[in-house]
Formats: sequence, C-alpha cells, structure tokens
Amino acid sequence: MRLTDNEIEAIAQKIVSKAPQSGRRPIIVGNWKMHKTPAEGEALVRQLIPLVEGASCEIGVAPAFPCLDRVAGALAGSNVHLCAQNAFWEAEGAFTGEVSTAMLKDLGVTHAIIGHSERRQYFGETDETVNHRAKTLFAAEMTPILCVGESLQEREEGLTHTVVERQVRGGLQGVANNQVANMVLAYEPVWAIGTGKVATLGQAQEVHGAIRRFVADLYDAQTSAAVRIQYGGSVKPDNAKQLLAQPDIDGALVGGAALKAEDFAAICLAA
Ligand code: 13P
Repeated sequence: MRLTDNEIEAIAQKIVSKAPQSGRRPIIVGNWKMHKTPAEGEALVRQLIPLVEGASCEIGVAPAFPCLDRVAGALAGSNVHLCAQNAFWEAEGAFTGEVSTAMLKDLGVTHAIIGHSERRQYFGETDETVNHRAKTLFAAEMTPILCVGESLQEREEGLTHTVVERQVRGGLQGVANNQVANMVLAYEPVWAIGTGKVATLGQAQEVHGAIRRFVADLYDAQTSAAVRIQYGGSVKPDNAKQLLAQPDIDGALVGGAALKAEDFAAICLAA
C-alpha cells in the first residue's frame, strides 16, 4: 500500500515528539556561509554560549575560515563545537585558496561541511571531490557533514530519490561502515535553502527515510540505524520542533537563523 502525499502529511503533522529509542543524539549546526567578520562572529558566539549551555543536543557553528581562530577562542570551555565550511584533500602544496585538515584541526575544528549545494552549484563540487574530502576528514579523525539534496526541477521531474541516492553513493565510495556510522549526512533540498520555503514534514521525513534505506542497502542495518541525518533548508525556531520530531530527522543544518543567537539557541533547545 502506498500512502498519498496528503496521508503522509497528516501522519507527520501528528508527530510532535520522537520516541527516544533511536539512540541518535540530535546535532544542530549553524552554517554561517559568507556572513560575519571575525569580530561579529566572536560577538555572536559570546551571546550564544549562555543560551545553549543547558541544551542536550550536539551543537556546532561553522564560520568562514577567517573567523575560525577568533571564534575558537570564544568557544573554549563551552559545549559548542567549531566546524568548518569545507576542507581540501591534499595535506599541503600549491593549492591556492584551499585549506587542509591539519590547518583546521590546529584551530580546534572538529567537523566540516562538505558537498553543500552552493559548493556544487557555484564551485564545481562533484560527488567525486566530495568523496575525496570525506575520506580526508576521516583520516584526520574529523567528522564530515555531507550534504545532499535535489533541485526544484529534479523534484518536479520525480528524480529526488535518484539524485539523493547518487550523491550518497558517490560521496561515500570506499568509506567503511564504522566511519559512516559516526558521520553526519545532511538532506538539504536546494529549493528550500534561503527561500523561506521549508519542505513539508512529510516531504522531509520521506527523503530522510529513503536516505536511511540507501545506507542500509550500501552497508548494513546497524550503520543505517546509527548515522545521523540532518535536515537543512529554512529551519527556523517555529518549525524546528516538528521537523526534529520526525523519526528519521536527527538534527538541523541551519543557515539564516544561525546568524541570530536567540533564533539558533531556540532551535538547539527544540532538539
Ligand atoms: P537556510 O537555513 O538559510 O535556508 O540555509 C540552509 C543551509 O543551506 C544550511 O547549510
């Protein structure tokens, strides 16, 4: 039996809190993109830290590279992880504009976002380059946050699962199951990013469930049950709770709302 979109939506709307049996700790990460100077970034985290100190989820902020050092200083001793917005796969060399995992680790970076749709769209990122980045992060004992998601056109053509499966499969080529179990995937439908157009609960849960099944097919049930899958795309304080209550949504990758301490803290506390 296949449920209609309306039936899926009605079920999703009724879910207000997730049964705790998944054992997956929610992870909320703020992707600052190309916003905030180092001084503004420091001020933002200084405001944020007291607001989230009681949160039970895992929390991270991903400032632009020039802000990392200053934000790291402000985060010392807090429960907020320092994340990067990318990481290159070579250890060092003539790669103008790139940043190595050793450079990031030295600053205290623990996680890095890779394969964001903006990187794919504007900077030629492919599943193959995302895969190189993922493997390099694992080798450095850092946590990749690997983003996948379909464009509006792909969704309208019924290609959502095909695209997302290709991105998951390509990004994880040659990655071992214990590594996948400890990493983070982020489902970010491109049409919901920065548009204020959030995926409906049913749409988001449906793709998250599909991603978990791809991981089970590629690896095994245990890996698929362990991997955390964030949702990203216009997550705000007023929609976070219901999104995070969906059975296969284990956190959020937050853009615009992460630039305001109160909003980002409210999302963290909703988890
Ligand atoms: P918005 O929350 O601004 O839609 O951005 C989502 C995103 O791209 C996070 O990586």
